[in-house]
Amino acid sequence: MEVVICSSPTEVAQRATAKVARICQEVGPNVVLGVATGSSPLALYEGLAARVADGSLDLSQASAFALDEYVGLPKGHPESYATVVNRTVTEPLGMDPARVNTPDGASSDIDGAAKAYEEAIVAAGGVDVQILGIGSNGHIGFNEPGSSLASRTRIKTLTPTTREDNARFFDSLDQVPTHCLTQGLGTIMAARNVVLVAQGEGKADAIAALVEGPVTAMCPGSVLQLHQHATIFVDEAAAAKLTLADYYRFTYDNKPAWQRDLSGL
Ligand code: F6R
Repeated sequence: MEVVICSSPTEVAQRATAKVARICQEVGPNVVLGVATGSSPLALYEGLAARVADGSLDLSQASAFALDEYVGLPKGHPESYATVVNRTVTEPLGMDPARVNTPDGASSDIDGAAKAYEEAIVAAGGVDVQILGIGSNGHIGFNEPGSSLASRTRIKTLTPTTREDNARFFDSLDQVPTHCLTQGLGTIMAARNVVLVAQGEGKADAIAALVEGPVTAMCPGSVLQLHQHATIFVDEAAAAKLTLADYYRFTYDNKPAWQRDLSGL
């Protein structure tokens, strides 16, 4: 796991954009992205969109799989993740909507929709780079504390904390769905690369638990300690509770040039 401590949220986005763009270029036109919703990756998506706009990145043949979707929101609801991904990823990144996927949270067969989503990811050749945020309770995707570290796409019940965190996107807490379909931790771990971004003091406990705590279902993000290619981009506020913060800074500042070239960082 590589931890990159950035001076500001802007730098988090710049460095994460460089990393994701490098992977896209290495993989080629058919790269498969895993995309999180929420606030954390928005500036990263804007960074990628800027590269698409200036012609240095082409995602017109790429595919994407969203991490999760609310259960029970009607198709086309402005806060359904299908709509959000279309607005924040598909359109600005110039992607083909036919190749951008979200779990079908409106299905009458939720178990079947979960299975179909896993199969679609496999059929696309797996995810090359999974972009993640982290919940204040340590969730990734909507894998809430207590999630199996080997879980695959399935229905989950959102915790009160997550519903409160997400109430800002709805008119009231009552409108936030109680259930979701989410890629499992095992699904996320199968991605070939993981790029997680976190900003602000509200994420400091979760980041410390993810990076330096025990690998435990109580902090689902901690499973990333077992991933071979996970990069965690944090600003100073989100890094505030990392015991080894100075070591991560030293490591990054003293990275051998060849390694910096290879990783795009
Ligand atoms: C969203 C998702 C969640 C968010 C997390 C952080 O698809 O999977 O894990 O990444 O809840 O949300 P923000 O970025 O809004 O703080």
